[in-house]
Amino acid sequence: MSTNIMLNNDIELPALGFGVFQTPPEETVTSVTEALRVGYRLIDTAASYFNERGVGEGIRRSGLDRSEIFIQTKLWISDFGYDEALHSFDKSAGKLGVEQIDLLLLHQPLTTAFDRTIGAYKALEKLLADGKVRAIGVSNFMPDVLDRLLAETGVVPAVNQVEVHPYFCQPDVQQADKEHGILTQAWSPMGGITSYRGDASRSTFNDPVIGEIAQTHGRTPAQVMLRWHLQEGRSAIPKSVNPERIAANFDVFGFELTADELARIDALDTGVRGGPEPAEVTLEAFHRDIPEA
Ligand SMILES: NC(=O)c1ccc[n+]([C@@H]2O[C@H](COP(=O)([O-])OP(=O)(O)OC[C@H]3O[C@@H](n4cnc5c(N)ncnc54)[C@H](OP(=O)(O)O)[C@@H]3O)[C@@H](O)[C@H]2O)c1
Repeated sequence: MSTNIMLNNDIELPALGFGVFQTPPEETVTSVTEALRVGYRLIDTAASYFNERGVGEGIRRSGLDRSEIFIQTKLWISDFGYDEALHSFDKSAGKLGVEQIDLLLLHQPLTTAFDRTIGAYKALEKLLADGKVRAIGVSNFMPDVLDRLLAETGVVPAVNQVEVHPYFCQPDVQQADKEHGILTQAWSPMGGITSYRGDASRSTFNDPVIGEIAQTHGRTPAQVMLRWHLQEGRSAIPKSVNPERIAANFDVFGFELTADELARIDALDTGVRGGPEPAEVTLEAFHRDIPEA
């Protein structure tokens, strides 16, 4: 059984969710259906993944009641600004085929046009007040940018979804989130980005320390990394399109890492980011047209 985490607005979020970044639309339907079948209850997508329709279809095919599933998606920077973000909610909800989204995030801060970031966040506040979303949050917000947001807006984000895996832990971000009562949700929680964007021979999946801990528990490196997040109080959203890995990545509730093992994994942090530098995500470099529903 999965566990839930209480957000700062008293909404419960399943700690272990399922990600679909880079999953093609048709495979999204089958992988989401499979994830829900084996027990995941949180699905993480984004307007810029261009697979929200597949997520909606996978949810409908699961046969589960809408109320049993926590859906989170993210607004892309090309739709920032107050009116644009309100419209972007309609696009995402329409593609997902739902009236209400459980958690809506700003995918990135647009630091070069911060007024548009603030406008988009104020739109999230409006959607929250109107009951169109149950919680709002951000993604890839570093502490200084978070402070700027908090100074100009009223609702403290419930979640900050950031890159966290054994090779990049961002303790400063986690600390800032904690001080503000914001849940840190780990993207690339198993360090997938160290394989598909970096040098696969230096991937977290092949790390000797993680491998040794995995062997001790008769588990896989992926399971150890996911367990590490849960025991340190983070939410994590592993992605897979492979049915065996989808199931194995959810089977992490029957063992416990020791304090020493958690510390050994913490010590693997290289301080080297796998994803783009958040401040370098500009409209010029990262514009995407988000289609209508
Ligand atoms: N907010 C953001 O900016 C942002 C950025 C990146 C990601 N995300 C979110 O976070 C989710 C997860 O991140 P991610 O996809 O980058 O990384 P991840 O979940 O850490 O790793 C996924 C990668 O590892 C492989 N994999 C999955 N399970 C495995 C296992 N048990 N053993 C070995 N390999 C395994 C997957 O391949 P197979 O599919 O073939 O199994 C895939 O290549 C995304 O899907 C997305 O929802 C958010």
